Amino acid sequence: MNRWEELGRVQIPNNGGELKLSRRGQEYSIRLSGIRGELMNSRVHGSEEALAELGCAGLRARAGARVLVGGLGMGFTLAAALGCVGESAEVTVAELIPAVVEWNRGPLGECAGHPLRDSRTRVHSGDVAELIAAGGAAWDAILLDVDNGPEGLTQADNQWLYSEAGTRAIHRALGPAGMLAVWSAGPDPLYLIRLKKAGFHTSVRTVRARPGKGSRHTIFLASKAALI
Ligand SMILES: C[S@@+](CC[C@H](N)C(=O)[O-])C[C@H]1O[C@@H](n2cnc3c(N)ncnc32)[C@H](O)[C@@H]1O
Repeated sequence: MNRWEELGRVQIPNNGGELKLSRRGQEYSIRLSGIRGELMNSRVHGSEEALAELGCAGLRARAGARVLVGGLGMGFTLAAALGCVGESAEVTVAELIPAVVEWNRGPLGECAGHPLRDSRTRVHSGDVAELIAAGGAAWDAILLDVDNGPEGLTQADNQWLYSEAGTRAIHRALGPAGMLAVWSAGPDPLYLIRLKKAGFHTSVRTVRARPGKGSRHTIFLASKAALI
């Protein structure tokens, strides 16, 4: 059995803790200080990919589709989004921690097949909330996986994204047929109510962490047009 080797460590601003990247053979792990267990492991990515597949369904044929992914992590959601859209699409990934982008440009990139090298990828090094607050009905899909979901946040600053104000801002930032997809560790009836109050048509999916097995995660789907 290979031993874990530390590849990098970085302090998150505003007392957000310390993020540590490790590798054991082909397996990568990212841990956040103060959180029991791993934040991410490269062997478990079924629900991160489902987030993109559900959120970008129907975008393959749309010329010039614009997708916003918030956070990069190990790149699985970004790679899956690129797989769901056409050649003329643009997929912007916002990542709060510059070191995570650097790790993905380096060894970590192999986990999801180096999606940062795709010519359709744009990187926003910063908070996804900045792009959402800019509004402008710019996005066909917004895929959010920046935290545990609407509850039990690891970054207090992310609260806004799931709040009434944040949910309304997301509604404004999406185009007329735009879709929001949100990864969550579990169900959250109050968040569903906020989505509906902001004008979204909603649906909730339960997906597995690995094909047919592993933990169950929740994907909130919120569409500006009626869901069929
Ligand atoms: C659970 S990981 C995302 C995993 C990703 N879906 C994947 O496929 O690997 C969460 C990521 O979001 C980033 N993040 C947290 N808050 C953010 C924010 N407000 N804006 C942008 N990125 C953020 C974290 O640094 C981390 O890289």
